[in-house]
Amino acid sequence: MAKVGLREWLAIAPVIASGRLSRYGGSAGSPLNRFESDFSAAFGVQHTLVVSSGTGALIAALAAAGIGPGDEVLVPAYTWIATAAAPLAVGAVPVLVEIDQSLTIDPADILRKITPNTRAIIPVHMANVVCDMDAIMQIARDHNLLVIEDACQAVGLTYKGRKVGTIGDAGAYSFNQFKNINVGEGGAIVTNDDQLFARARMYHDIGAVFRGHLDNANAPLIPGINLKASQIQGAMLNVQLKKLTPMLRRMRQRYEAMADILTSRGGLRLIPQHDAANAAGLHVVFDTEEEACDFAARNKRGVHRVYDSSRHVYTFWQPILEQRTVHPKLNPYAWAARPMDYSPKACPRSLDILKRTCRITVGENYPLAFMRYMARRMVKDRSMSLAPLATSPGLS
Ligand SMILES: Cc1ncc(COP(=O)(O)O)c(C=O)c1O
Repeated sequence: MAKVGLREWLAIAPVIASGRLSRYGGSAGSPLNRFESDFSAAFGVQHTLVVSSGTGALIAALAAAGIGPGDEVLVPAYTWIATAAAPLAVGAVPVLVEIDQSLTIDPADILRKITPNTRAIIPVHMANVVCDMDAIMQIARDHNLLVIEDACQAVGLTYKGRKVGTIGDAGAYSFNQFKNINVGEGGAIVTNDDQLFARARMYHDIGAVFRGHLDNANAPLIPGINLKASQIQGAMLNVQLKKLTPMLRRMRQRYEAMADILTSRGGLRLIPQHDAANAAGLHVVFDTEEEACDFAARNKRGVHRVYDSSRHVYTFWQPILEQRTVHPKLNPYAWAARPMDYSPKACPRSLDILKRTCRITVGENYPLAFMRYMARRMVKDRSMSLAPLATSPGLS
C-alpha cells in the first residue's frame, strides 16, 4: 500500500488556492493533464485517461471497445467483484475462468470457455502477480478477442519488460487506498488505440465532445456517464507517481530476501511467477488446506490464506451469483445466448488452489531487516509446528 503524507498535502494546497478543481476547468498544464502525459511516458503507452475509480476504468474501457449485449467476457474466478460487474454494466455477461497455481487466469481454461459469443478476456494481475500475457495474447489473436487488462492490483509491475496494463488492447488501474498508487479513490485507462481512447474520453464525460475528446480519432459521437476525476486527485497523483518506482524497488528487495528465507531455510513452496525476475507478490502454496490454515493462524501478522479474503473469491460475489440487475428489463443475462454457471462447481480447481495458498505481505514500508526477521520467524514457527508430527509414531 502506498503511503500518503506531507508531499501530497503540499501539492494540493496550490490547487485549492487556484479554485480550479474540476477536470476541465484548468489550463492545459493542469495537474491531471501533467499526470496523464508523465504516466504515459513512464509506462510506455500512447494514451492515459484518469477516471474516478478502477471500476470506472474497466467499464469505460469495455464501453469504448464496443462490448455490449449478447457478448461474453472471460474473467478469472479470483479477482475483486468489480472485474465481473464491469461487463454487466455495458450489457455483456461475465464468464468464469479457472485460475492456475500462479493465481492468475489459466490460459488452458480460457480456451475451454471460448464460445462464438466470446468478445473479450479480462486477465487480472492479482496482488502484484502478473498473468501469462504471452499465452493470453496468442489466444486473443487466434480467436479474434479483445484483451482488457485489469492491472488495478499491480500498478507499475512489469511482464517481460512491459508494464502490465499496456500489453492488451486497453488496461485499467485503480488508485484507491490499497493500491500501489494511492489517492483514496481513482483510476486510469491506458491504450495505444486512438479510437478506443477517443470513445473512452467521450464515455467518461457524458459524451461532451465540445471538450475536444475526438482529437485525432475518427469515432462517431456517443453519450456516456460521468467518471471524471478532480484536480485534487491530479495533484496527489503527480506526487504518488514519483514514489512508485522506489516503492516497487523496496517490494522487490523484500520479496527476494523473504522468498530466499522461506524456501531455502523453511522448505516452503512459492507460487510460480510468469516473470520471476521481477516478481513482487509473495505467496506460498501447501499440499493441503489444513497446512495453509495452520500457517496463517501461526502468522497472523503479515500472512493470510487467500481463500479467507473471501470477497476476492467468486463464490462470495453475492450480487453476481444471484444474477440480479438494476431493472428486470435491463438484464444482460436475458440477452445472453446461454445460461451462466456461477455455482461452486463452475471453478473447483480455483477454490482448491485458493484454499491451499497463503499471501505474505512484503512490507514495503517496513525496514528490510524487520521483514527478514518476520520471514525467519515464519520459518521457525513452521518447524515448531512440524516437530510433533516428525516425532510421532509412524511418521518418522
Ligand atoms: C482486481 C481489481 N479490479 C478492479 C478493482 C476496482 O477498483 P476501484 O476500487 O478503484 O473501483 C479493484 C479494487 O479493489 C481490484 O482489486
